[in-house]
Amino acid sequence: MQNKLFQGDCLLKLDELLDSSVDLVYIDPPFFSQKNHTLSNRLGDITASFSDKWDSSEAYCSFLRERLLKLKNKLKKTGSLFFHCDNSASHLIRFLLDEVFGNTQFRSKIIWTYKRWSNAQKGLLPAYQEIFFYSKSNQFKFNKIYNNYSPTTNVDQILQKRVRDNRGKTVYAKSEEGLIISSDEKLGVPLSDVWEIPFLNPKASERVGYPTQKPILLLEKIIQLTTSEGDTVLDPFCGSGTTLVASKLLNRQFVGIDISEQAIKTTQNRLDNPIKTSSKLCENGVDSYYNTDNPVASYLPKNSYSMVHRNKGIDAILTQKKEGKQVLVRVQRQWESLAQAAMLLLNASLKKTEVLPVLIITRTDEFLGYLQASYPSLCFLNSIELQLSSLVATDLPLSNEINVGSSAR
Ligand SMILES: C[S@@+](CC[C@H](N)C(=O)[O-])C[C@H]1O[C@@H](n2cnc3c(N)ncnc32)[C@H](O)[C@@H]1O
Repeated sequence: MQNKLFQGDCLLKLDELLDSSVDLVYIDPPFFSQKNHTLSNRLGDITASFSDKWDSSEAYCSFLRERLLKLKNKLKKTGSLFFHCDNSASHLIRFLLDEVFGNTQFRSKIIWTYKRWSNAQKGLLPAYQEIFFYSKSNQFKFNKIYNNYSPTTNVDQILQKRVRDNRGKTVYAKSEEGLIISSDEKLGVPLSDVWEIPFLNPKASERVGYPTQKPILLLEKIIQLTTSEGDTVLDPFCGSGTTLVASKLLNRQFVGIDISEQAIKTTQNRLDNPIKTSSKLCENGVDSYYNTDNPVASYLPKNSYSMVHRNKGIDAILTQKKEGKQVLVRVQRQWESLAQAAMLLLNASLKKTEVLPVLIITRTDEFLGYLQASYPSLCFLNSIELQLSSLVATDLPLSNEINVGSSAR
C-alpha cells in the first residue's frame, strides 16, 4: 500500500482503504478525560487543540465501537490492533474490544510506565498508561524481542539448560552421566508487558508541542513486535504523526488520519524532517543504572550479549556461542591489574563446562605474555582503544594487513 495522510473523521476516511490491507492499527483516541486539550504559543494563541468532552460514557463507547468495527475489517488476518488509553475509560475499552474482536483475541495489556515528579491532584502520582493488544486471528504476526536478564539472575541460571521433570517442576538438565548440560544460545529475557519508556521531556528535540504527543520509542516497540519491513501501519487518530514517523524510520508503509487540520500539517512537517530523541534508559537498559560498575556496555556492541549480575568475575555472556561454547566476558577495570582481572574471570569460570572465558584488556600490561602462558584456558582480547593507541605508537610501517597488538588467539 502507498503511504497516505487524510484529514477528516476516520469513520468516513477509513472507507477509502481496502479491507484486509493493514498489518497493524495503533489507536490513541481521546481518552474520555472530559477536557479540552490545547496547546498555545508564547503569545497565548492556541496552535493545536482537540476536544475530549462527552455527554456520557455510552456516547464515548458508541463513537469507538463504530470505528473499531471498521478498523477490524481493514486488518489482515495476521494483523493486530493496539489501543492506547488510561484509567479514565480503560475498563470500558476492554469490554468494547472483547465485544468487537472476541475475548479469545486478547493478547496483552501493556503497561507503559514512566517517571514523573509532581502531582497536582490529591492522591497517588499517576505513572502509567495502558495499551490493549488484540489480534484479528490466532495467526497474528509476532516478532520476539528480548531484554537483558534481571540483576537477580545468577550466572548458572543463564548458562545451564533447564527442563521440566515428571512432576512439572523446572530443574537443571543433566546428561546420562549426570553432567550439567549447557543451555542454547542466550537471547535474554522475552519482552514483558511492562515497558519503561520516558515521557518526552519539555526540551526533547522530538517534541513538537502537540497535546498528548507520544514518544517514537514507544511506537517503535509496537511496530517491531508485530510487523516486518514493508508492512502497513494505520493510525486513525494520528495527532502529531508519531506512529507515522516511527513507521517511516523502520521502513514500514503508513496511513494516518486525523480530524484536525493542524494535526495533519504537524504530521507532514515531521515526516519531512523526522527527529527522534534517544533515551539512555532504553538504549542501555535499566541495568545500566543498577550496575554502574559494569563497563561492558562501553566495550560490546548493543544486543550482542546478556549482562551478568551478582558475579565477581563475569560481566556478560555473548548471545552467540563460539564453537559450541558459551563465551563469558570480563572487562578489565581501570583500577585492577591484568593479573587480578584474569584471576577473577578464571575463578568464576572454573567449574563451568563448555565455556570460553574472554578477558577484554583495557590497559597495556608487561605481564600479558606471562599470563597468556600461565592461563591457557583464557582468551585475551585488546579493547579497541588499546588497539588504536598501539596503532598510533607503533614504529612499523602500516599495511592493511597489520593486526596491531592483537593478543587474541
Ligand atoms: C490523543 S491524540 C493523538 C496523539 C498522537 N498519538 C501523537 O503522538 O501525537 C488524539 C487525536 O485524535 C484526533 N481525533 C479526534 N476525533 C477524531 C476523529 N473522529 N477522526 C480522526 N481523528 C480524530 C484529535 O484531533 C487528536 O489529534
